[in-house]
Amino acid sequence: MWIIYSLLVPIVASASVPGDSANPNTKLLDNIRVYIHEEASPCEDYHQYACGKYATKHSDDPFMEITQMLDHKMNQKLVQVMDELEQGSEAPGFNGSSLEAKVLRFYLNCRDAPETMRKVQRYLRLVPPDGDLSWPQFSAGRPWPKEKFNWMETLARLHRYGLSNVLISAVVTQKLANRREFIVDLGMPIFTGENDHLKGFLESFATLLSLGVQRYSILPLIRKMRKLENSIQKLTDEEDDDEELQFMTLRRLESVTGLEWRKFYEIIVDHQIPLNREVQVKNLKYFRALKRVMDAADKELVANYIMTRFIIHLTGDSREDNDPIECMKDVRRSMSLATNFIYQDRFLAPETLQRYSNEMETLFDHLRRRLLKLIDHNHLRLTAQQRRFVSNKAKGITINIGNVPKTPDLRAFADQYYKGLEMPAADKDYNREHLKLLAYKTRKWVEQLNSGAPTVDEYFYTSDSDTLMSSSPFYILRENQIIMPFGLLQEPLFVPDSHNVFKYSLMGFVLAHELTHAIDGEGIFFNTQGNVDLSVLEIVESPRFQEGMECMNRNKTDYINERLADITGLHLAYGAYFNNETGTPFQVSPREFNHMSQEKIFFLNLAQFFCGDADASTFLEHDEDKLRLVHVLSGFPPFDRAFGCRRSSSDKCRLW
Ligand SMILES: *[C@@H]1O[C@H](CO)[C@@H](O)[C@H](O)[C@H]1NC(C)=O
Ligand SMILES: *[C@@H]1O[C@H](CO)[C@@H](O)[C@H](O)[C@H]1NC(C)=O
Ligand SMILES: *[C@@H]1O[C@H](CO)[C@@H](O)[C@H](O)[C@H]1NC(C)=O
Ligand SMILES: [Zn+2]
Repeated sequence: MWIIYSLLVPIVASASVPGDSANPNTKLLDNIRVYIHEEASPCEDYHQYACGKYATKHSDDPFMEITQMLDHKMNQKLVQVMDELEQGSEAPGFNGSSLEAKVLRFYLNCRDAPETMRKVQRYLRLVPPDGDLSWPQFSAGRPWPKEKFNWMETLARLHRYGLSNVLISAVVTQKLANRREFIVDLGMPIFTGENDHLKGFLESFATLLSLGVQRYSILPLIRKMRKLENSIQKLTDEEDDDEELQFMTLRRLESVTGLEWRKFYEIIVDHQIPLNREVQVKNLKYFRALKRVMDAADKELVANYIMTRFIIHLTGDSREDNDPIECMKDVRRSMSLATNFIYQDRFLAPETLQRYSNEMETLFDHLRRRLLKLIDHNHLRLTAQQRRFVSNKAKGITINIGNVPKTPDLRAFADQYYKGLEMPAADKDYNREHLKLLAYKTRKWVEQLNSGAPTVDEYFYTSDSDTLMSSSPFYILRENQIIMPFGLLQEPLFVPDSHNVFKYSLMGFVLAHELTHAIDGEGIFFNTQGNVDLSVLEIVESPRFQEGMECMNRNKTDYINERLADITGLHLAYGAYFNNETGTPFQVSPREFNHMSQEKIFFLNLAQFFCGDADASTFLEHDEDKLRLVHVLSGFPPFDRAFGCRRSSSDKCRLW
């Protein structure tokens, strides 16, 4: 683990600051210079030039790049709030049912739970496969009563704790044609994520041992579980990827697949439903094959497999560690709304938040106007109607600062949201409370099958817990909304009093990147309301669109939409800053910028987003930062001009 926490570590490891350290521009500039590796050539290896000294400067820090650093700062501040709350909780007036109290108690649960209350084995005691059936290793020497085990019912019971991708993928999701309505979507599982399959041999061995499985039976069990998983994965490989989604009643689905879907559904939603309930399904052939495999498989093996995957799911959603920072991450995963509320309440006074929000909105608005202009120039030669569609999409994007609903009274809203959540103070049972929070969050999500989706103003993201504890910005397809977590509103990414060149090159780039996701190869299929519009196929299949996408992929990437967002994002941010529509030149005193040109500052500050010392293998769903920086700048003439590079670069790709 790379997490080393110490209260003595300064919040930002900054080098000694020459000059006027109170001036925000000087400070930012000094931060940038600290990373520059002067001996490297900006033209040949810009990442090395701009970020070359990052690793040495941060060798002892528990973060690997800028958003993680912002996260760390945020976690430190929150730990401090928890310490204050802990002291306050002794006082007579402390309100034990407030949000703060609930968050504090979960935090203390994590920090102070005794070893016995944070054992993975306890999760299994608390969540058996069925009401009167325990997991096989707990049968105390007697044969395990297999006949009581029903794999689908067990899966449905575990679904209540968010397990939704084992043997069957079952997710409650918005209808493609109508984001207001939810439906249960059934299909085959995926195996791509790190928690979507069994772990390696040694790790599996350790897990099973800690779960109480007899040592001598672990080896053969792992072999058999792997064989089972491989055969399932093979079934999914055989499936046709382009198979159409279908809407089907449970009755029909039961008769086509031979599986008991109504029972499965009822356990997930925890109430009875009629057989004519519709679901959205894919991969019917897979389900028929799955039934054959499950019918033939040993029930005890299947139970063990599901159990192991459940544990992988749970440990992936928490930290074993009781270090304060790690516990804060845990709190952010499990109680994100309450944590964001507390952060806002403590660190963003209403006037401050208002000022920051205005600042972000102005920046975003300017970037969006650049984009609308670009759309109007019509590089893709769209029809007037198609252009309107794309423009409206861009105009409809909202920004959500802090991942909280846009309500005037956030405390009241969050109070209501956590109303049904009891968080006892007496015992420190981490396992139980973790499960409870997972179930609470999952139930809130599943209830949308009845209540429908929140409005755009009530919306906040709750799904993926890793996303929830991170300060990375993201775009929500179905809401046409960009989420900018509170963590981003910290130095050095956000410095309200700094010069625009800093704002446009970093925050501007980040916003423009997310903005582009609204109209990337996937986002474009959804209209302003967040519903699928298939007429867009005409845009996507047009030769110019295809050409643009192929160009972006000349140097192959698995994340073509990310590359597009980077390239378009830079184009928008740079254009918005340097082609100021008002035509007024910027007033900058050269002394203030250490005689560095604004163009250089722009590109150096942009690089801050990509500087880091993470291993290339740790990047998720994006190319590694170094590569991203190379691709976003290659063939971008202003960059070559700024650094006097004479490179024979091919033309910059463009889509929009
Ligand atoms: C304690 O907190 C709850 C939930 O926020 C609130 O409804 C209640 O009014 C508070 N009680 C007092 C005495 O402030
Ligand atoms: C892309 O690939 C071409 C040909 O393989 C190579 O010459 C070029 O340097 C690559 N560009 C980047 C930015 O990696
Ligand atoms: C454009 O110029 C105006 C007037 O000088 C200024 O207020 C505005 O901030 C500038 N825009 C940008 C993007 O810096
Ligand atoms: Zn992106």
